Amino acid sequence: MANLEYLIAESQNDFNACADMPTLENAKAKYLGKAGALTEALKGLGKLSSEERPAAGAAINVVKQAVEAALNLRRETILNAVQAQQLSQESIDVTLPARAQSQGGLHPVTLTLQRIEQLFHSIGFDVATGPEIETDFYNFTALNIPENHPARAMHDTFYVDESNVLRTHTSPVQIHYMEDKAPPLKIIAPGRVYRVDSDATHSPMFHQVEGLWVDENISFANLKGVVQDFLQKFFERDDLTVRFRPSFFPFTEPSAEMDMSWNGGWLEIGGCGMVHPEVFKHVNIDSEKYRGFAFGLGVERLAMLRYGVNDLRHFFNNDLRFLSQFNK
Ligand code: FA5
Repeated sequence: MANLEYLIAESQNDFNACADMPTLENAKAKYLGKAGALTEALKGLGKLSSEERPAAGAAINVVKQAVEAALNLRRETILNAVQAQQLSQESIDVTLPARAQSQGGLHPVTLTLQRIEQLFHSIGFDVATGPEIETDFYNFTALNIPENHPARAMHDTFYVDESNVLRTHTSPVQIHYMEDKAPPLKIIAPGRVYRVDSDATHSPMFHQVEGLWVDENISFANLKGVVQDFLQKFFERDDLTVRFRPSFFPFTEPSAEMDMSWNGGWLEIGGCGMVHPEVFKHVNIDSEKYRGFAFGLGVERLAMLRYGVNDLRHFFNNDLRFLSQFNK
């Protein structure tokens, strides 16, 4: 047993000489491994008589526990040292410059829509909305464009199925609104519309803003006043004027294209007219008593002019270099 007690001091020395975990595991084998000194001693118990065995076994265990305690202590010391070293390497350099946070912004078409809504709101127009998938009835028939009417060919339509379309204009919102509410009515209806159309000034998805004012004494003069006033404020140009060119829309009579003066010339910005009596008939409004004007403006067209963008497709390419230029 004297032999064995000496193992305690020897293992402590060996363990303390180890600087890392692999060396320590090697050193452990010498005492506690398969052929280690303590394992051998335990095996040797079998050769003792049954009277000697309990005392010898207990003594070996005392030594074994002391060696294991020494091993665990060293293990802890080494792990603490490793962790301390890792922490010192991972320390944060608080003098480094902060990472820049880039800020998002509103899309130029959204900014334009907000501006349009705000300006019309200031002269008493409410904002109405309608579904983007429309029945054939709302997109065409109720707007006095019956089936097989050549005017349907004016719009290259995306069909969802036989009786539903992606709305080709915001005019169906007029019908929804007049079905629900009695005159006087004074609304704009901004929103997305869809046409099979694509080039520098035409996009398959674009935005329109519909205008509708129905009351007892509404005339073309009111239409001109409202649109011109809106455009002057929108472009911040008091000298801006509007002219009408005779045109045709099945849902208005008379109908006109609206042009506005721009840099010495004229630019087309939308269609308009006086609400057709057939349309009033579909929504049970007495066309003897009420009259109304309606117009439809291309929102991207207005945004292109305001921001000086020459290709409408820029709005929908999602290039951040383009989009990050707009903040008001
Ligand atoms: C209409 O859509 C009529 N609903 C407008 C209207 C409303 C007339 C109320 C009378 C009464 P038009 O198809 O002309 O009309 O379209 C109106 C405007 O939408 C055009 O002047 C143009 O600015 C814009 N627009 C038309 N197609 C596209 C397109 N593919 N991409 C971008 N803008 C377009």
